[in-house]
Amino acid sequence: MKISVIGCGYLGAVHAAAMAELGHDVIAIDTNKARIEALQRGVAPFHEPNFENLLKRNYSRLTFTTDISKIRESRVHFIAVGTPQAADSSADMTFIYGAFENLIPYLSGGDLVVGKSTVPVGTANQLSARIAELEAHLIWNPEFLREGFAVEDTLSPDRLVYGVPEGIDGEEASRILDEVYESILERGCPRLIMNSSTAELVKVAANSFLATKISFINAMAEIAEVTGADVTQLADAIGYDSRIGRKFLNAGIGFGGGCLPKDIRAFMVRADQLGVGEALTFLKSIESINLRRREQVTRLLKEELGQIKGKKIAIWGIAFKPNSDDIRDSPALSIAHSLAAHGAIVVSADPMAWKASTEQIPGDADIGFHSVIQDHITAVEGADALVVATEWDIFINEDPNRVGPLMKSKLVIDGRNCLDSLVWKSAGFRIRGFGRLY
Ligand code: UGA
Repeated sequence: MKISVIGCGYLGAVHAAAMAELGHDVIAIDTNKARIEALQRGVAPFHEPNFENLLKRNYSRLTFTTDISKIRESRVHFIAVGTPQAADSSADMTFIYGAFENLIPYLSGGDLVVGKSTVPVGTANQLSARIAELEAHLIWNPEFLREGFAVEDTLSPDRLVYGVPEGIDGEEASRILDEVYESILERGCPRLIMNSSTAELVKVAANSFLATKISFINAMAEIAEVTGADVTQLADAIGYDSRIGRKFLNAGIGFGGGCLPKDIRAFMVRADQLGVGEALTFLKSIESINLRRREQVTRLLKEELGQIKGKKIAIWGIAFKPNSDDIRDSPALSIAHSLAAHGAIVVSADPMAWKASTEQIPGDADIGFHSVIQDHITAVEGADALVVATEWDIFINEDPNRVGPLMKSKLVIDGRNCLDSLVWKSAGFRIRGFGRLY
Protein backbone atom coordinates (compact mmCIF):
# COMPACT_ATOMS: atom_id res chain seq x y z
CA MET A 1 0.00 0.00 0.00
CA LYS A 2 1.07 3.62 -0.51
CA ILE A 3 1.18 5.39 2.80
CA SER A 4 2.21 8.82 3.97
CA VAL A 5 3.34 9.85 7.43
CA ILE A 6 3.26 13.53 8.34
CA GLY A 7 5.74 14.36 11.10
CA CYS A 8 9.13 12.66 11.46
CA GLY A 9 9.73 13.11 15.16
CA TYR A 10 10.06 10.17 17.48
CA LEU A 11 6.63 8.82 16.73
CA GLY A 12 6.45 9.56 13.00
CA ALA A 13 9.95 8.49 11.97
CA VAL A 14 9.65 5.15 13.76
CA HIS A 15 6.12 4.66 12.46
CA ALA A 16 7.20 5.38 8.87
CA ALA A 17 10.06 2.88 9.03
CA ALA A 18 7.85 0.30 10.72
CA MET A 19 5.18 0.66 8.03
CA ALA A 20 7.87 0.08 5.40
CA GLU A 21 8.92 -3.02 7.34
CA LEU A 22 5.32 -4.24 7.00
CA GLY A 23 5.80 -4.00 3.23
CA HIS A 24 4.22 -0.62 2.45
CA ASP A 25 5.67 2.16 0.31
CA VAL A 26 6.02 5.11 2.64
CA ILE A 27 6.41 8.84 2.03
CA ALA A 28 7.42 10.55 5.24
CA ILE A 29 7.16 14.33 5.51
CA ASP A 30 8.62 16.85 7.90
CA THR A 31 9.25 20.57 7.71
CA ASN A 32 12.61 20.15 9.47
CA LYS A 33 15.16 19.94 6.64
CA ALA A 34 18.07 18.72 8.76
CA ARG A 35 15.96 15.90 10.17
CA ILE A 36 14.79 14.83 6.71
CA GLU A 37 18.34 14.91 5.35
CA ALA A 38 19.56 12.72 8.20
CA LEU A 39 16.74 10.23 7.67
CA GLN A 40 17.43 10.16 3.92
CA ARG A 41 21.00 9.15 4.74
CA GLY A 42 19.69 6.39 7.01
CA VAL A 43 20.85 8.26 10.11
CA ALA A 44 18.55 8.40 13.14
CA PRO A 45 18.12 11.97 14.42
CA PHE A 46 17.67 10.56 17.97
CA HIS A 47 18.95 7.58 19.87
CA GLU A 48 16.55 4.66 19.61
CA PRO A 49 17.75 1.04 19.72
CA ASN A 50 17.28 -0.85 16.42
CA PHE A 51 15.85 2.16 14.62
CA GLU A 52 18.76 2.72 12.25
CA ASN A 53 18.73 -0.96 11.29
CA LEU A 54 15.04 -0.70 10.52
CA LEU A 55 15.67 2.40 8.39
CA LYS A 56 18.48 0.77 6.45
CA ARG A 57 16.64 -2.50 5.96
CA ASN A 58 13.66 -0.73 4.41
CA TYR A 59 15.48 1.97 2.53
CA SER A 60 13.94 1.08 -0.84
CA ARG A 61 10.39 1.52 0.45
CA LEU A 62 11.01 4.80 2.32
CA THR A 63 11.00 8.34 0.94
CA PHE A 64 11.76 11.19 3.33
CA THR A 65 10.92 14.65 2.02
CA THR A 66 9.91 18.17 3.02
CA ASP A 67 7.62 18.38 -0.03
CA ILE A 68 4.05 17.77 1.14
CA SER A 69 2.74 17.48 -2.43
CA LYS A 70 4.46 14.07 -2.63
CA ILE A 71 1.66 12.59 -0.53
CA ARG A 72 -0.67 12.94 -3.49
CA GLU A 73 -0.05 9.32 -4.46
CA SER A 74 -0.88 7.86 -1.03
CA ARG A 75 -4.30 6.68 0.01
CA VAL A 76 -3.59 6.40 3.75
CA HIS A 77 -2.14 9.38 5.62
CA PHE A 78 -0.85 9.11 9.17
CA ILE A 79 -0.63 12.28 11.24
CA ALA A 80 2.20 11.92 13.73
CA VAL A 81 3.15 15.49 14.59
CA GLY A 82 3.88 16.65 18.12
CA THR A 83 1.45 18.19 20.58
CA PRO A 84 3.85 19.93 22.97
CA GLN A 85 2.82 21.70 26.11
CA ALA A 86 1.44 25.22 25.58
CA ALA A 87 2.03 28.06 28.05
CA ASP A 88 -1.24 27.29 29.87
CA SER A 89 -0.30 23.54 30.12
CA SER A 90 -2.85 22.54 27.50
CA ALA A 91 -1.75 20.63 24.39
CA ASP A 92 -0.44 22.97 21.72
CA MET A 93 -2.43 21.94 18.66
CA THR A 94 -0.65 24.17 16.14
CA PHE A 95 1.13 21.28 14.42
CA ILE A 96 -1.99 19.09 14.25
CA TYR A 97 -4.11 21.81 12.68
CA GLY A 98 -1.24 22.81 10.39
CA ALA A 99 -0.65 19.23 9.21
CA PHE A 100 -4.35 18.70 8.63
CA GLU A 101 -4.77 21.88 6.61
CA ASN A 102 -1.66 21.06 4.54
CA LEU A 103 -3.03 17.60 3.85
CA ILE A 104 -6.55 18.63 2.79
CA PRO A 105 -5.64 19.85 -0.75
CA TYR A 106 -4.25 16.38 -1.55
CA LEU A 107 -7.09 14.32 -0.07
CA SER A 108 -9.37 12.37 -2.38
CA GLY A 109 -12.68 10.67 -1.66
CA GLY A 110 -12.07 7.28 -0.05
CA ASP A 111 -8.69 8.25 1.43
CA LEU A 112 -8.06 7.41 5.06
CA VAL A 113 -6.49 9.89 7.49
CA VAL A 114 -5.14 8.24 10.63
CA GLY A 115 -4.39 10.37 13.68
CA LYS A 116 -1.61 8.98 15.87
CA SER A 117 -0.69 12.01 17.97
CA THR A 118 -1.88 12.43 21.55
CA VAL A 119 -4.68 15.00 21.41
CA PRO A 120 -7.34 16.46 23.71
CA VAL A 121 -10.59 14.52 23.70
CA GLY A 122 -12.93 15.89 21.03
CA THR A 123 -10.21 16.64 18.46
CA ALA A 124 -11.09 13.91 15.95
CA ASN A 125 -14.77 14.90 15.88
CA GLN A 126 -13.74 18.47 15.15
CA LEU A 127 -11.36 17.39 12.36
CA SER A 128 -13.81 14.98 10.77
CA ALA A 129 -16.34 17.81 10.37
CA ARG A 130 -13.63 19.72 8.47
CA ILE A 131 -13.29 16.97 5.84
CA ALA A 132 -16.96 15.94 5.71
CA GLU A 133 -17.46 17.15 2.12
CA LEU A 134 -14.41 15.30 0.80
CA GLU A 135 -15.78 11.87 1.64
CA ALA A 136 -12.43 10.92 3.11
CA HIS A 137 -12.27 8.79 6.26
CA LEU A 138 -10.67 9.56 9.59
CA ILE A 139 -9.66 7.27 12.43
CA TRP A 140 -7.88 8.13 15.68
CA ASN A 141 -5.36 5.39 16.30
CA PRO A 142 -3.29 6.35 19.36
CA GLU A 143 0.26 5.13 19.74
CA PHE A 144 1.51 3.52 22.94
CA LEU A 145 5.20 3.15 22.14
CA ARG A 146 7.82 3.59 24.82
CA GLU A 147 11.09 5.35 24.01
CA GLY A 148 13.87 2.80 24.07
CA PHE A 149 11.44 0.15 22.78
CA ALA A 150 9.85 2.19 20.01
CA VAL A 151 10.61 -0.26 17.18
CA GLU A 152 9.42 -3.29 19.11
CA ASP A 153 6.28 -1.50 20.37
CA THR A 154 5.33 -0.28 16.89
CA LEU A 155 5.82 -3.63 15.18
CA SER A 156 4.35 -5.73 17.99
CA PRO A 157 1.90 -3.52 19.86
CA ASP A 158 -0.09 -4.77 22.88
CA ARG A 159 -3.25 -3.61 21.18
CA LEU A 160 -4.52 -1.50 18.29
CA VAL A 161 -7.18 1.07 19.08
CA TYR A 162 -9.34 2.49 16.29
CA GLY A 163 -11.36 5.55 17.24
CA VAL A 164 -14.13 6.40 14.79
CA PRO A 165 -15.29 10.06 14.78
CA GLU A 166 -18.87 11.19 14.32
CA GLY A 167 -20.04 11.12 10.69
CA ILE A 168 -17.40 8.62 9.54
CA ASP A 169 -18.16 5.22 8.03
CA GLY A 170 -16.38 3.17 10.69
CA GLU A 171 -16.65 -0.09 8.82
CA GLU A 172 -14.94 1.15 5.68
CA ALA A 173 -12.32 3.17 7.58
CA SER A 174 -11.50 0.15 9.79
CA ARG A 175 -11.27 -2.11 6.75
CA ILE A 176 -8.60 0.13 5.20
CA LEU A 177 -6.64 0.38 8.45
CA ASP A 178 -6.88 -3.41 8.90
CA GLU A 179 -5.21 -3.72 5.52
CA VAL A 180 -2.34 -1.48 6.69
CA TYR A 181 -1.87 -3.50 9.88
CA GLU A 182 -2.66 -6.87 8.29
CA SER A 183 0.49 -8.68 9.39
CA ILE A 184 0.26 -7.33 12.95
CA LEU A 185 -3.37 -8.42 13.18
CA GLU A 186 -2.54 -11.85 11.75
CA ARG A 187 -0.17 -12.37 14.66
CA GLY A 188 -3.17 -12.01 17.00
CA CYS A 189 -2.82 -8.42 18.17
CA PRO A 190 -6.13 -7.36 19.79
CA ARG A 191 -7.92 -4.63 17.83
CA LEU A 192 -10.53 -2.51 19.57
CA ILE A 193 -12.96 -0.31 17.66
CA MET A 194 -14.66 2.50 19.55
CA ASN A 195 -15.71 6.08 19.01
CA SER A 196 -12.92 8.62 18.67
CA SER A 197 -13.58 10.31 22.03
CA THR A 198 -13.02 6.99 23.75
CA ALA A 199 -9.85 6.34 21.75
CA GLU A 200 -8.45 9.79 22.57
CA LEU A 201 -9.22 9.16 26.23
CA VAL A 202 -7.64 5.68 26.14
CA LYS A 203 -4.30 7.27 25.39
CA VAL A 204 -4.33 9.91 28.12
CA ALA A 205 -5.95 7.52 30.59
CA ALA A 206 -3.16 4.98 30.01
CA ASN A 207 -0.45 7.59 30.59
CA SER A 208 -2.30 8.97 33.62
CA PHE A 209 -2.53 5.47 35.07
CA LEU A 210 1.19 4.85 34.56
CA ALA A 211 2.03 8.21 36.17
CA THR A 212 -0.30 7.34 39.04
CA LYS A 213 1.42 4.00 39.59
CA ILE A 214 4.83 5.68 39.77
CA SER A 215 3.66 8.44 42.11
CA PHE A 216 1.80 5.91 44.25
CA ILE A 217 4.99 3.96 44.91
CA ASN A 218 6.90 7.21 45.44
CA ALA A 219 4.31 8.25 48.03
CA MET A 220 4.89 4.90 49.73
CA ALA A 221 8.63 5.67 49.65
CA GLU A 222 7.96 8.90 51.54
CA ILE A 223 6.06 6.94 54.19
CA ALA A 224 8.76 4.25 54.26
CA GLU A 225 11.41 6.91 54.89
CA VAL A 226 9.82 7.97 58.19
CA THR A 227 8.75 4.53 59.37
CA GLY A 228 11.86 2.45 58.78
CA ALA A 229 10.15 0.41 56.05
CA ASP A 230 11.62 -0.57 52.68
CA VAL A 231 9.69 0.46 49.57
CA THR A 232 11.34 -2.06 47.24
CA GLN A 233 10.28 -4.96 49.43
CA LEU A 234 6.84 -3.38 49.65
CA ALA A 235 6.63 -3.11 45.82
CA ASP A 236 7.75 -6.72 45.40
CA ALA A 237 5.14 -7.90 47.88
CA ILE A 238 2.18 -5.96 46.48
CA GLY A 239 3.37 -6.64 42.93
CA TYR A 240 2.78 -10.36 43.35
CA ASP A 241 -0.94 -9.56 43.38
CA SER A 242 -1.68 -9.90 39.67
CA ARG A 243 -4.34 -7.20 39.98
CA ILE A 244 -1.58 -4.77 40.97
CA GLY A 245 1.49 -6.08 39.09
CA ARG A 246 5.15 -5.22 39.78
CA LYS A 247 5.79 -3.10 36.66
CA PHE A 248 6.04 0.70 37.06
CA LEU A 249 6.44 0.36 40.81
CA ASN A 250 10.07 1.43 40.91
CA ALA A 251 10.45 4.24 43.42
CA GLY A 252 13.02 6.98 42.91
CA ILE A 253 13.28 10.48 41.51
CA GLY A 254 10.09 10.01 39.49
CA PHE A 255 8.83 10.27 35.95
CA GLY A 256 9.83 12.66 33.20
CA GLY A 257 10.04 12.65 29.42
CA GLY A 258 8.06 14.16 26.60
CA CYS A 259 4.83 12.32 27.37
CA LEU A 260 3.74 11.49 30.92
CA PRO A 261 4.27 14.94 32.49
CA LYS A 262 2.75 16.95 29.64
CA ASP A 263 -0.08 14.51 29.02
CA ILE A 264 -1.38 14.58 32.58
CA ARG A 265 -1.20 18.38 32.63
CA ALA A 266 -3.04 18.71 29.30
CA PHE A 267 -5.63 16.18 30.51
CA MET A 268 -6.33 18.29 33.59
CA VAL A 269 -6.74 21.43 31.46
CA ARG A 270 -9.10 19.61 29.09
CA ALA A 271 -11.19 18.25 31.97
CA ASP A 272 -11.46 21.79 33.35
CA GLN A 273 -12.65 23.06 29.97
CA LEU A 274 -15.28 20.33 29.96
CA GLY A 275 -16.48 21.32 33.43
CA VAL A 276 -15.28 18.08 35.06
CA GLY A 277 -11.95 19.27 36.38
CA GLU A 278 -12.76 17.81 39.79
CA ALA A 279 -12.59 14.30 38.35
CA LEU A 280 -8.87 14.74 37.81
CA THR A 281 -7.78 16.66 40.90
CA PHE A 282 -5.89 13.51 41.95
CA LEU A 283 -3.53 14.11 39.01
CA LYS A 284 -2.43 17.34 40.71
CA SER A 285 -1.27 15.22 43.65
CA ILE A 286 0.42 12.79 41.28
CA GLU A 287 2.37 15.68 39.84
CA SER A 288 3.28 17.17 43.24
CA ILE A 289 4.54 13.81 44.53
CA ASN A 290 6.60 13.51 41.37
CA LEU A 291 8.22 16.94 41.73
CA ARG A 292 8.71 16.50 45.47
CA ARG A 293 10.83 13.42 44.91
CA ARG A 294 13.30 15.42 42.85
CA GLU A 295 13.81 17.73 45.83
CA GLN A 296 14.61 14.74 48.03
CA VAL A 297 18.06 14.53 46.41
CA THR A 298 18.92 18.01 47.70
CA ARG A 299 17.56 17.10 51.14
CA LEU A 300 19.61 13.89 51.33
CA LEU A 301 22.77 15.70 50.23
CA LYS A 302 22.22 18.40 52.83
CA GLU A 303 21.77 15.74 55.50
CA GLU A 304 24.97 14.02 54.48
CA LEU A 305 27.21 16.94 53.55
CA GLY A 306 25.91 19.63 55.86
CA GLN A 307 25.79 22.17 53.06
CA ILE A 308 25.68 21.97 49.29
CA LYS A 309 27.29 25.27 48.39
CA GLY A 310 30.80 24.73 47.04
CA LYS A 311 30.49 20.95 46.97
CA LYS A 312 31.30 18.99 43.84
CA ILE A 313 28.46 16.66 42.91
CA ALA A 314 28.68 14.10 40.11
CA ILE A 315 25.40 13.05 38.52
CA TRP A 316 25.18 9.89 36.47
CA GLY A 317 22.47 10.39 33.88
CA ILE A 318 20.84 13.26 32.04
CA ALA A 319 18.29 11.37 29.92
CA PHE A 320 14.81 10.99 31.42
CA LYS A 321 15.29 7.24 31.26
CA PRO A 322 17.96 4.77 30.08
CA ASN A 323 18.44 3.82 26.41
CA SER A 324 17.27 7.25 25.34
CA ASP A 325 18.93 10.58 24.62
CA ASP A 326 15.73 12.46 25.39
CA ILE A 327 16.14 15.14 28.05
CA ARG A 328 12.62 16.58 27.93
CA ASP A 329 11.36 17.13 31.47
CA SER A 330 14.20 14.97 32.71
CA PRO A 331 14.30 14.50 36.51
CA ALA A 332 18.09 14.07 36.25
CA LEU A 333 18.57 17.42 34.55
CA SER A 334 16.15 19.22 36.83
CA ILE A 335 18.07 17.91 39.87
CA ALA A 336 21.37 19.08 38.32
CA HIS A 337 19.95 22.57 37.83
CA SER A 338 18.56 22.68 41.33
CA LEU A 339 21.89 21.64 42.90
CA ALA A 340 23.75 24.24 40.82
CA ALA A 341 21.23 26.81 41.98
CA HIS A 342 22.14 25.84 45.55
CA GLY A 343 25.78 26.65 44.77
CA ALA A 344 27.07 23.14 43.97
CA ILE A 345 29.56 22.46 41.19
CA VAL A 346 27.70 19.80 39.28
CA VAL A 347 29.12 17.53 36.59
CA SER A 348 26.58 15.34 34.82
CA ALA A 349 27.55 12.40 32.64
CA ASP A 350 25.40 10.44 30.23
CA PRO A 351 26.50 7.99 27.53
CA MET A 352 23.98 9.30 24.98
CA ALA A 353 22.16 12.37 26.21
CA TRP A 354 25.41 14.32 26.75
CA LYS A 355 25.07 15.31 23.09
CA ALA A 356 21.59 16.68 23.70
CA SER A 357 22.80 18.87 26.54
CA THR A 358 26.39 20.02 26.39
CA GLU A 359 25.41 22.98 28.52
CA GLN A 360 27.85 24.86 30.70
CA ILE A 361 25.56 26.92 32.85
CA PRO A 362 26.41 29.00 35.84
CA GLY A 363 24.12 28.31 38.79
CA ASP A 364 23.19 30.66 41.61
CA ALA A 365 24.64 31.19 45.10
CA ASP A 366 27.78 32.75 43.56
CA ILE A 367 29.67 29.62 42.61
CA GLY A 368 27.13 27.04 41.40
CA PHE A 369 27.84 25.60 38.00
CA HIS A 370 26.55 22.76 35.82
CA SER A 371 28.50 21.06 33.09
CA VAL A 372 27.79 17.97 31.03
CA ILE A 373 30.25 15.35 29.81
CA GLN A 374 30.06 11.86 28.35
CA ASP A 375 32.40 9.90 30.61
CA HIS A 376 30.89 8.95 33.95
CA ILE A 377 34.25 8.08 35.47
CA THR A 378 35.76 11.50 34.76
CA ALA A 379 32.63 13.03 36.33
CA VAL A 380 33.32 11.55 39.77
CA GLU A 381 36.91 12.84 40.06
CA GLY A 382 37.17 14.82 43.30
CA ALA A 383 33.42 14.62 43.90
CA ASP A 384 31.92 14.96 47.37
CA ALA A 385 28.97 12.85 46.30
CA LEU A 386 27.63 10.85 43.39
CA VAL A 387 23.94 10.89 42.41
CA VAL A 388 22.66 8.09 40.16
CA ALA A 389 19.77 9.72 38.31
CA THR A 390 19.25 7.50 35.24
CA GLU A 391 19.57 3.72 35.49
CA TRP A 392 21.78 3.06 32.45
CA ASP A 393 23.33 -0.44 32.55
CA ILE A 394 26.87 0.98 32.51
CA PHE A 395 26.10 2.76 35.79
CA ILE A 396 24.39 -0.22 37.40
CA ASN A 397 27.28 -2.48 36.43
CA GLU A 398 30.06 -0.05 37.34
CA ASP A 399 32.57 -1.30 39.90
CA PRO A 400 32.44 0.95 42.98
CA ASN A 401 36.05 -0.04 43.75
CA ARG A 402 37.04 1.88 40.60
CA VAL A 403 34.82 4.85 41.48
CA GLY A 404 35.53 5.26 45.22
CA PRO A 405 39.26 6.07 45.07
CA LEU A 406 38.58 8.89 42.58
CA MET A 407 36.09 10.65 44.85
CA LYS A 408 36.72 13.00 47.74
CA SER A 409 34.15 11.19 49.85
CA LYS A 410 32.48 7.89 49.20
CA LEU A 411 28.84 8.94 49.21
CA VAL A 412 26.28 7.76 46.66
CA ILE A 413 22.62 8.80 46.35
CA ASP A 414 20.80 6.11 44.41
CA GLY A 415 18.03 8.10 42.75
CA ARG A 416 16.67 5.06 40.93
CA ASN A 417 17.11 2.43 43.66
CA CYS A 418 19.06 0.51 41.05
CA LEU A 419 22.47 -0.15 42.63
CA ASP A 420 23.51 -3.33 44.39
CA SER A 421 23.84 -1.78 47.84
CA LEU A 422 25.91 -4.65 49.27
CA VAL A 423 28.54 -4.24 46.59
CA TRP A 424 28.71 -0.46 47.02
CA LYS A 425 28.78 -0.73 50.81
CA SER A 426 31.55 -3.28 50.75
CA ALA A 427 33.56 -0.84 48.61
CA GLY A 428 33.30 1.61 51.52
CA PHE A 429 30.42 3.73 50.20
CA ARG A 430 27.71 5.31 52.27
CA ILE A 431 24.54 4.80 50.23
CA ARG A 432 21.22 6.66 50.48
CA GLY A 433 18.23 5.82 48.34
CA PHE A 434 14.52 6.45 48.11
CA GLY A 435 12.46 4.69 50.76
CA ARG A 436 15.18 2.05 51.10
CA LEU A 437 16.72 0.35 54.07
CA TYR A 438 20.40 -0.44 53.69
C1 UGA B 1 5.27 6.67 27.98
C2 UGA B 1 4.35 5.44 28.07
O1 UGA B 1 4.98 4.43 28.86
C3 UGA B 1 4.07 4.89 26.66
O2 UGA B 1 3.16 3.81 26.75
C4 UGA B 1 3.46 6.02 25.81
O3 UGA B 1 3.19 5.58 24.49
C5 UGA B 1 4.44 7.17 25.76
O4 UGA B 1 4.70 7.64 27.10
C6 UGA B 1 3.81 8.26 24.93
O5 UGA B 1 2.82 8.83 25.36
O6 UGA B 1 4.25 8.46 23.80
P1 UGA B 1 7.92 6.96 27.69
O7 UGA B 1 7.70 8.44 27.77
O8 UGA B 1 8.83 6.41 26.66
O9 UGA B 1 6.53 6.20 27.47
O10 UGA B 1 8.51 6.54 29.11
P2 UGA B 1 8.14 5.49 30.25
O11 UGA B 1 8.83 4.21 30.01
O12 UGA B 1 6.69 5.44 30.49
O13 UGA B 1 8.84 6.19 31.50
C7 UGA B 1 8.40 7.47 31.93
C8 UGA B 1 9.17 7.92 33.14
O14 UGA B 1 8.76 7.18 34.28
C9 UGA B 1 10.68 7.79 33.06
O15 UGA B 1 11.27 8.98 33.54
C10 UGA B 1 10.99 6.63 33.99
O16 UGA B 1 12.25 6.73 34.57
C11 UGA B 1 9.89 6.78 35.04
N1 UGA B 1 9.55 5.52 35.75
C12 UGA B 1 9.06 4.46 35.08
C13 UGA B 1 9.72 5.47 37.13
O17 UGA B 1 10.14 6.46 37.78
N2 UGA B 1 9.38 4.32 37.79
C14 UGA B 1 8.91 3.23 37.13
O18 UGA B 1 8.61 2.21 37.79
C15 UGA B 1 8.75 3.30 35.74
